[in-house]
Amino acid sequence: MTSTSDLLRSWTARLRHAGVASPEHDARALAAAVLAVGPVEVQLVAKIPADERKQIAALVSRRATREPLQHIIGSAAFVDLELEVGPGVFVPRPETESLAAYAVEWLLSRPAPQQVVDLCTGSGALALAIAARVPDVQVVGVELSPSALEYARRNLGRFRSQLQAESVELVEADATSADLLSRLSGDIDLVVSNPPYIPDRAVPRDPEVANYDPPMALYGGIDGLEVVRGIIPVSERLLRSGGMLAVEHGELQGDAAGVPGVIAASSRFHSVESHRDLTGRCRFTSAVCRG
Ligand SMILES: C[S@@+](CC[C@H](N)C(=O)[O-])C[C@H]1O[C@@H](n2cnc3c(N)ncnc32)[C@H](O)[C@@H]1O
Repeated sequence: MTSTSDLLRSWTARLRHAGVASPEHDARALAAAVLAVGPVEVQLVAKIPADERKQIAALVSRRATREPLQHIIGSAAFVDLELEVGPGVFVPRPETESLAAYAVEWLLSRPAPQQVVDLCTGSGALALAIAARVPDVQVVGVELSPSALEYARRNLGRFRSQLQAESVELVEADATSADLLSRLSGDIDLVVSNPPYIPDRAVPRDPEVANYDPPMALYGGIDGLEVVRGIIPVSERLLRSGGMLAVEHGELQGDAAGVPGVIAASSRFHSVESHRDLTGRCRFTSAVCRG
């Protein structure tokens, strides 16, 4: 009989050999998904039945081709939500959790009710994380890709019971269009966005990203900042005086040549500030609207 530890070791070795960055974590997560237990409990399963062993081995083989773990198990953790993801939608990243935490903290420090727009909402990650944590908030998530929006709709359905009634609205639209959400002009307290920001020629090395995240979610033109430039005038119009814009960007886009520079070029924003994540990397920039 092969022990659970031996099996985990061999699956981990297979994933390590394939170049997977977190082989032990992923082997455990795949086993946990099949066994319907938490990742820490996998080790406590005395003997994995033959059928389940085969199923786990098949998932490990898929992961060894560098198909993203989240596509294989069908979900990704974001803040305290488990969001449905798969082909056609960007997998939410832990990096974006610092933007989510900033947005939630900022909203909680101000009087309710408040209105938020999440431009480029993808799976709905930021919109749903904000709505789940901030009382008396209305969030509109805007997404151009119909397939991504489909995931956002399903995620909204998943968490609807935990949210205040109708606190999240999803809209299929171009976040850079001049008349976006014109009914809300001047009423919005916070615009958050994790737009595509990778320069077109900077194709990511990890196959999980390059081959599986939708190109529309990754690439933002020659310098990566095309969508960012497009959402600045939209945010100026939507935000009320004193409202906040907070935009995620790459770690090398946190200076005057990057997103802070793009925002500072607008006379409608002041207090432009770039923020670092827990590893010290520039992750997002905030700015206050003069209205
Ligand atoms: C980096 S992903 C972020 C998704 C989500 N906000 C998150 O943090 O997981 C960028 C998203 O922007 C969407 N997108 C790209 N261009 C857009 C545009 N002009 N208008 C609206 N959405 C756009 C993509 O389809 C993708 O879902």
